[in-house]
Amino acid sequence: MAAIDTSGPKESVSSAGGAAAGGFADRHLLGLHGLGAPQVRSMLTLARRYAGHEADGSEDPAAWRATLRGKVVANLFFEDSTRTRVSFSLAAKRLGAEVIDLTAMGSSVSKGETVADTALNVAAMGVDALVMRHASSGAPRLVVRALQARVRAWDARGVVASVVNAGDGKHEHPTQGLLDSYTIAESHGRLEGFDLSGLRVGIVGDIASSRVARSNLACLTAMGAQVVFIGPPTLVPGVFEKMGAQVVHDIDAVIGTLDAVNVLRIQFERHGAAAGGAKAAPNVIASVREYHERYGLHAARLERLKKGAIVMHPGPINRGVEMTALAADDPRSVVLRQVRHGVAVRMAVLQMCIGNQGPAR
Ligand code: NCD
Repeated sequence: MAAIDTSGPKESVSSAGGAAAGGFADRHLLGLHGLGAPQVRSMLTLARRYAGHEADGSEDPAAWRATLRGKVVANLFFEDSTRTRVSFSLAAKRLGAEVIDLTAMGSSVSKGETVADTALNVAAMGVDALVMRHASSGAPRLVVRALQARVRAWDARGVVASVVNAGDGKHEHPTQGLLDSYTIAESHGRLEGFDLSGLRVGIVGDIASSRVARSNLACLTAMGAQVVFIGPPTLVPGVFEKMGAQVVHDIDAVIGTLDAVNVLRIQFERHGAAAGGAKAAPNVIASVREYHERYGLHAARLERLKKGAIVMHPGPINRGVEMTALAADDPRSVVLRQVRHGVAVRMAVLQMCIGNQGPAR
């Protein structure tokens, strides 16, 4: 799947109103897989400006509001979210866009409408970007196809929007991949050029269910880092080696070699875990307690971290399961830096998809 997708008829997905949008009209961000370093670097470099990391300190946040002035961004979240939804909203507002929020509950999705129909209807109101989260892998792609298929239909004239994937099933979560790479670059002094070569990044946990892991793998390998997927074979099958990751089932064998440890939640809801929530063991682990002992980030493992290594987590954290409260609050934890960078990265992505002017080069 192409990441920034420029396929399809030019007029199918263009900036509403036909305003000149430089070379960045007609854009979707569906995933990071297949992107090269130059594309990733251009997004991260633009984010650097919004994260306040530009060396000359010349940035003027008041001027940013022209970037999406007159634009409308719709959040279509069919799955729960705290960080991603709020940060897309903030990102859009900081660039001067209007934001509307729609969730599955309280929308016509609960009356049986398809996701594509919901999205087309929202786009028909003159929305410029559809930021979508959905439990089904590929749902954002489906919406792009629906937009493209209807473009020649009379009643769909003017129904144009960029689609930005905010997490689809187990597939991709591109802005999370970008913000994680950004945070690693910041912590290791790589903000100039975002070259991550020589760094080893461990991602621990429920890789099989994780869109975060897939987008991280694509982004990190594009920028030259080595990625190690760590967890039990039920959660980290060997097939990921074909995608370019190293697969390791014994965390203690590698913990001291990592420059960043990104810890993931077990996606209980995707394993059909019934009542019992985060404390119920799905059939892929023997028990939560055993998992914590074998793979959790706890004091003994923190001690073995390499000098300069950072601890990451995309959230939401299940304290006591994949990491202890102590690890989450450890000085090496950059969890809130990740959240902070999420806004900057999403500002960059929205600008590149629907900005009134192209990105700074
Ligand atoms: C993740 C997600 O929803 O994919 N969280 C996030 O967006 N920050 C990870 C998770 O739910 O475990």
